[in-house]
Amino acid sequence: AEGFLKDTRGRLLHDLRISVTDRCNFRCSYCMPKEIFTKQYNYLGQSELLNFEEITRLAKLFVAHGVEKIRLTGGEPLLRKGIEDLVQMLSALSTPSGNAIDLTLTTNGSLLKKKAQALFDAGLNRVTVSLDGINDDVFRQMNDVDFPVKDVLDSIEAAQMVGFQNIKVNMVVKKGTNEHEILPMVEHFRNTGVILRFIEYMDVGNTNGWQMSEVVSSQSVIDLINERYPISPVSQGYSGEVAQKWRFNDGAGEIGVISSVTQAFCSSCTRARISMEGKLFLCLFANTGFDLKHLLRTNVSDLEISNVIANIWQGRQDRYSELRGKIQAGEISHAKVEMSYIGG
Ligand code: GTP
Ligand code: 5AD
Ligand code: SF4
Ligand code: SF4
Repeated sequence: AEGFLKDTRGRLLHDLRISVTDRCNFRCSYCMPKEIFTKQYNYLGQSELLNFEEITRLAKLFVAHGVEKIRLTGGEPLLRKGIEDLVQMLSALSTPSGNAIDLTLTTNGSLLKKKAQALFDAGLNRVTVSLDGINDDVFRQMNDVDFPVKDVLDSIEAAQMVGFQNIKVNMVVKKGTNEHEILPMVEHFRNTGVILRFIEYMDVGNTNGWQMSEVVSSQSVIDLINERYPISPVSQGYSGEVAQKWRFNDGAGEIGVISSVTQAFCSSCTRARISMEGKLFLCLFANTGFDLKHLLRTNVSDLEISNVIANIWQGRQDRYSELRGKIQAGEISHAKVEMSYIGG
């Protein structure tokens, strides 16, 4: 059951994103709007979550199928108790040809200062921190829990201090909310070794009230930056990389843009996703996942689970972002999984 897997569109399985919790201590309006994600919201209970042994068992099967990159997400992954133990277990996995896997994590940065050393020691290779503005008022408003920007910046610095390299910062750009933060963010992170990336605001989940008119296109972000700090395109790092990369002509570093709305990248989508309760999703915009937890908890062999994974990938057809126009026009109906559940 080992080897590389291709789906119906010829796409290889290469990345696995594992969401370890559906909870977050932020309430970014584009992801977990406060009015919906209240105290009464039906979050999963501890016994419904995959434990670390179960997650590692699945990850190992995916790695045998060609996955070379694993990203831990949430909600906020650092809220999961003992997350460094999971990192340690996953960092011990190696590919069929004996290489280490690339193990990374996406966090809102609120707990990273405290956890950076433990995560680094456990074998985490890289971190990506979400940060939507450098102005404290703007940032407090966007996270909607009044969280100060300084604590996130301290976390990024702490991560650099313990030895993480090529740290990325993701900024979701929403028109009328934080587009004026683009240049201040660029100015802040130039020359720091941090790679700042701008993400087009997406219609993930069913609760963020997305409108096309609130999307700031990557092209306009690039134009804006280029006018002030000239930049040149950098070639893609690996096939299936979602960000288009640019570097400052004056040597101040690199930035990236992720254009999932204006330039869909479904044709090279190599990602599978596992939720905290063990459901296998392929597309970020899928509405149902396949229940792998049930298999894990009913004495099914590795070989059988491995075959199930292979069959699901090989039958894969999804390409939501390429069909977005039709879906938005109501020609195709589509309920979606929440971003805080599937982790991007
Ligand atoms: P690196 O290249 O290793 O930095 O990882 P990455 O860019 O795949 O990971 P990251 O979590 O930072 O991804 C950035 C953002 O791009 C995600 O949070 C999503 O918002 C978006 N994204 C990632 N994968 C997909 C995808 O398959 N489809 C769409 N539409 N958006 C995605
Ligand atoms: N559109 C684009 N990016 C989003 N993220 C969360 N919700 C959205 C959305 N609606 C981003 C987060 C984080 C990553 C996991 O996904 O800011 O950087
Ligand atoms: Fe939390 Fe990230 Fe969603 Fe913001 S975008 S609410 S930090 S999971
Ligand atoms: Fe992949 Fe779905 Fe994103 Fe397209 S929309 S790139 S198929 S996850």
